[in-house]
Amino acid sequence: MKMQNESTTLFINTFLFFCISILQFQSSLSVTDSSTSTHISFPKEALPTKSGYLPVSSTSASSIFYTFYEAQSSTSPLSQTPLLIWLQGGPGCSSMIGNFYELGPWRVTNSLTLEPNPGAWNRIFGLLFLDSPIGTGFSVASTPQEIPTDQNGVAKHLFAAITRFVQLDSVFKHRPIYITGESYAGKYVPAIGYYILEKNAELKDTERVNLAGLAIGDGLTDPVTQVVTHAANAYYVGLINERQKNELEKSQLEAVGLVHKGNWSEATDARNNVLSLLRNMTGLATLYDYSRKVPYEDDLVGQFLNIAEVKKALGVNVDESFVYEICSDIVGDVLNADVMKSVKYMVEKLLRESRVLMYQGQRDLRDGVVQVEAWVKTMKWEGIVEFLKAEREIWKVNGEVAGYVQKWKSLTNVVVLGAGHLLPTDQPLNSQAMIEDWVLKKGLFGIVPDRNVSKNVFDD
Ligand SMILES: *[C@@H]1O[C@H](CO)[C@@H](O)[C@H](O)[C@H]1NC(C)=O
Ligand SMILES: *[C@@H]1O[C@H](CO)[C@@H](O)[C@H](O)[C@H]1NC(C)=O
Ligand SMILES: *[C@@H]1O[C@H](CO)[C@@H](O)[C@H](O)[C@H]1NC(C)=O
Repeated sequence: MKMQNESTTLFINTFLFFCISILQFQSSLSVTDSSTSTHISFPKEALPTKSGYLPVSSTSASSIFYTFYEAQSSTSPLSQTPLLIWLQGGPGCSSMIGNFYELGPWRVTNSLTLEPNPGAWNRIFGLLFLDSPIGTGFSVASTPQEIPTDQNGVAKHLFAAITRFVQLDSVFKHRPIYITGESYAGKYVPAIGYYILEKNAELKDTERVNLAGLAIGDGLTDPVTQVVTHAANAYYVGLINERQKNELEKSQLEAVGLVHKGNWSEATDARNNVLSLLRNMTGLATLYDYSRKVPYEDDLVGQFLNIAEVKKALGVNVDESFVYEICSDIVGDVLNADVMKSVKYMVEKLLRESRVLMYQGQRDLRDGVVQVEAWVKTMKWEGIVEFLKAEREIWKVNGEVAGYVQKWKSLTNVVVLGAGHLLPTDQPLNSQAMIEDWVLKKGLFGIVPDRNVSKNVFDD
């Protein structure tokens, strides 16, 4: 979610401030206009079941902000109902983007009101949004030095927040937990999963985190393998010609060279340069979805969450002057040197000890189908050969082709048609069907249909 240079950011901030001032004015106007309700922007039924702060350190006030939405119509007792945790990418972008623009139960509209999302991921599961790492969204970093600089640091804070959350109510205690996330969370999701596996091995039964699976949407996970795919991808989609492809390939190799030298920050900048070059060559509104005429409007979330009444409704505990940003440049800078580092080995371990879903919007040019398949096939995991040989099944929802599902044992990959990087925004109902069927192992997400291979290989 980060491809702005400093001056654009400044412009956006100023512009945002201007909009917010107007909106606050309008919102206070409508409040006085209406004698029936004081919750114009935030209907009572849209309130999270719980929200607030989860401390991550015993020595400081640093804490992770959360909003939790209980399942709307659970099909199992709540104490056994799966719990999904959502992590936004960036680095430094707030999970409130996921909440209010993608998969939460209420989405922000152009006029900064909320409308129900029929594709909400909490239809039958509990859904927890965490603003991570600290310093992101409404989360608190008591000093900038406490913001984690690597995945282990991010995971340590997330582990503290998750265990705190589970202790908030006995109904959370034994629920299966699924960690999900998007984009740069293609690193956070494996990192916290891996951290949980390591911690669980040394904890008593009753203290373990009940990790049941992990899902990565349009993820950046093994960047050095992913960065070399953009030129060919764009070329075969018809967006650049061969000369441009060669130029882009040169730029990609610069990023790879810097990774090999261990110049991590420069490598991240070089990757940004590749994407900038591709965008300049194509003139696309956004690389997140090559069919879009305008970029995703996720800054609506920023405008909405800066309305004082909305902050109050969410239990945000900051003074009036605090400006909420959908993506924090400070956190982005702190993690800049981490961006190109791979967490592939973590996914390999998670495939042995848990279940992993990866899904991509077919129109995403940044962390899309080609980018993900490129690194997945290089995994050192016993099942990879069988996975690559597995049938790519045509996946239908309500009789229409929704995409493709390829599965082998613990690994499932889904390509979703008609979607870009913010996949649940583009395909709310299909993304809901996907996550529900994968968690519950239904349909194509369950046991692979018999293809005349001996039965005993299908344990899960
Ligand atoms: C890479 O890092 C080395 C050692 O830190 C440094 O001397 C060199 O200038 C860097 N190269 C680039 C291209 O940034
Ligand atoms: C893309 O275009 C912008 C605006 O003209 C320019 O600032 C930027 O340097 C270009 N990016 C690359 C990689 O050439
Ligand atoms: C499985 O084997 C049977 C009998 O050899 C054959 O008729 C059938 O087409 C095979 N099915 C698949 C999916 O390959």
